[in-house]
Amino acid sequence: MSTVETISETTQSVAALSLRSASEGTKAEQPESYRYAHLLPHFSPAHYPPLVPFEHVDPGSRALKHADPRAFLANASSVVELTPRLGTEVRGVSLAGLDSDGRDQLALEVARRGLMVFRDQGEFIDKGPEAYLEWGRHFGRLHVHPTSGHPKDYPQIHLVYRDANSTFNFEINDSITSTVWHSDVSYELQPPGLTTFFLLSQPTTGGDTLFTSQVSTLKKLSPSFVAFLRTLSAVHSGVEQAEFSRSGKRGGIVRREPVEHVHPLVRRHPVTGDEALYVNKQFTRRIVGLKKEESETILKFLYDHIDRSGDLQARVKWEPGTVVLWDNRVTAHSAIVDYGESKERRHGARITPQAERPIPALEGLELPQ
Ligand SMILES: [Fe+2]
Repeated sequence: MSTVETISETTQSVAALSLRSASEGTKAEQPESYRYAHLLPHFSPAHYPPLVPFEHVDPGSRALKHADPRAFLANASSVVELTPRLGTEVRGVSLAGLDSDGRDQLALEVARRGLMVFRDQGEFIDKGPEAYLEWGRHFGRLHVHPTSGHPKDYPQIHLVYRDANSTFNFEINDSITSTVWHSDVSYELQPPGLTTFFLLSQPTTGGDTLFTSQVSTLKKLSPSFVAFLRTLSAVHSGVEQAEFSRSGKRGGIVRREPVEHVHPLVRRHPVTGDEALYVNKQFTRRIVGLKKEESETILKFLYDHIDRSGDLQARVKWEPGTVVLWDNRVTAHSAIVDYGESKERRHGARITPQAERPIPALEGLELPQ
């Protein structure tokens, strides 16, 4: 029996699990009454071939030539910088109404600010999965996650889900903290760029999301140390995430064999030219060419630096209708799982276009093919 068959036999869709659990609850908990029941996580037993490289043209590059690259914010009722270095909160602009030109400008602004928080986006959210795909494809080829749940028939939409009966997030259960800084699926050869995420259902309080600027974490370091970091590359691995699923957790499905890729420690954004630190505790495993202790010491120092730099971070408190966009190339983020006792549902959807293979800040840095 193949591994795939074994996994598929042990897997159920979350929709099925929810039907069973909800039938034991009150009428208000019946899944058919849940507005977004059609977007509940489904773990299909499909098996996907390896991703193939593609050429990415960043939409933000088109906005560079625009006379006013922030014109899409002209009618906003409020534009507030969340912190000096990271994040802008916008009210009064409907993402659902942005044309191609506006989306290009959005991509550039997100690249510059790292993070943008758009409030009152019910129209965008209620457009549904076909519209999510059309939106995401403007920014790049849509990533299909190898292990996560997705709405039935929409594998390009990555879901996070937790309720009183189940959790389908990648979590280390025996850790004292749920904070795990990461850049999404950095193990891919072409990791994501502009990423869109929103909640369909949220707890009354809690479940905020933390973000940090990897441009700023790099800038804090001394020039000579940064010069050394620019000469380095590191292995990013999807193996542990796949093993977590194969152990029966998070839906128990691995639809694409895990990959490892080597990326520069300092990458350059293709549009802004900004240099960003590109390591994360969740997926970076070792620095190429260094002795084990050297690699571990430098990575631990960098992870501690990212952890401690509250002055470089922003925290998004979700409101119904909030849509958040970040540039996965120049930021890192972490979920905050502080709402477990409330037993409330948190259901989120991510649209994840892939971008270019990370460009080394150091020109000519050799990376394996
Ligand atoms: Fe993430």
